[in-house]
Amino acid sequence: MYQFIAGLPKVELHLHIEGSLEPELMFQLAKRNNIDIPYASPDEVRAAYDFSNLQSFLDIYYQGAQVLITERDFYDLTWAYMLRCKTDNVLHAELFFDPQTHTSRGVDFDLVMKGICGALAAAEIELGISSQLILCFLRHLDEASAFDTLNQAQAWKQQIVAVGLDSSELGHPPEKFARVFATARQQGYLTVAHAGEEGPSSNIIDALDILQVSRIDHGVRCVDDPQLVTRLIDEQIHLTVCPLSNTKLKVFASMEQHNIVDLLYKGVSVGVNSDDPAYFGGYMNDNFNALANAHPLTYEQLAKFTSNAIDASFCNAQRKYELQQQLQVYLDKQ
Ligand code: ADE
Ligand code: ZN
Repeated sequence: MYQFIAGLPKVELHLHIEGSLEPELMFQLAKRNNIDIPYASPDEVRAAYDFSNLQSFLDIYYQGAQVLITERDFYDLTWAYMLRCKTDNVLHAELFFDPQTHTSRGVDFDLVMKGICGALAAAEIELGISSQLILCFLRHLDEASAFDTLNQAQAWKQQIVAVGLDSSELGHPPEKFARVFATARQQGYLTVAHAGEEGPSSNIIDALDILQVSRIDHGVRCVDDPQLVTRLIDEQIHLTVCPLSNTKLKVFASMEQHNIVDLLYKGVSVGVNSDDPAYFGGYMNDNFNALANAHPLTYEQLAKFTSNAIDASFCNAQRKYELQQQLQVYLDKQ
């Protein structure tokens, strides 16, 4: 099974680039930029990664991002993630980035974009991995800050396929960003949103109806509303599910209790993703392996996660076709 998973072509649609900052790189960048961090070693950083809920993680995640200062930092961060994609046979990745985490510290929006886009372009050429970039608004900040961020993205519209919504879900429902998302859609962006991770299933409905998202990030609380599950199946709305994240943040008490396999059986379009792999104990292969350890899954079911993600990706039709072909070739070889 591990061997099958290792070779399985994969597509990642839910990855926060700031969440791929490994403690070793955090230390290296802290040194390079003369920034004090409250830990003595990378191991000490890892020991602090014991989360009780989403907020307890976010507090540490925003603190960690403070070592990211220069264009080279963002390049190195992104390149390290793309190398992990290569190792895990991820053929296509759609990355979230949180500009407000950086601009609020005086780090220039354009510098962030240059660093990330430089590494993504290099990965396409040198590693053959295609990618897209999704700008996320931090939902704990206000509408004005989101509009300001959307304006700063104007010059980079060609490099950003969609806008998304992340950070603290409780107390910050989708409707808070209705006008920002409407403007973004008018400007030609696709939309996605974190919903139904810790927050209620009604956030999923509001993300679909108010923000008009193309897919839902997490969405696992949909099961609280059977009518919504039927809608997700009928409309084939994709959920970018993150198994290790959900167990680390206590959305589920254990991997055995995770509902992704139930959702797959029901006919919901679900995929497997790593969310913040440096914080949650693993990249794509680790997420697939953790699931396969806890649930009986056939090769076909594991491949269906990839196939669903290809269909829900923001690639053009030609690239989707190529990815489905590569998946089929792999399955035919088994
Ligand atoms: N930002 C980074 N990871 C996140 C998650 N799992 N939920 C909400 N916001 C996030
Ligand atoms: Zn996320």
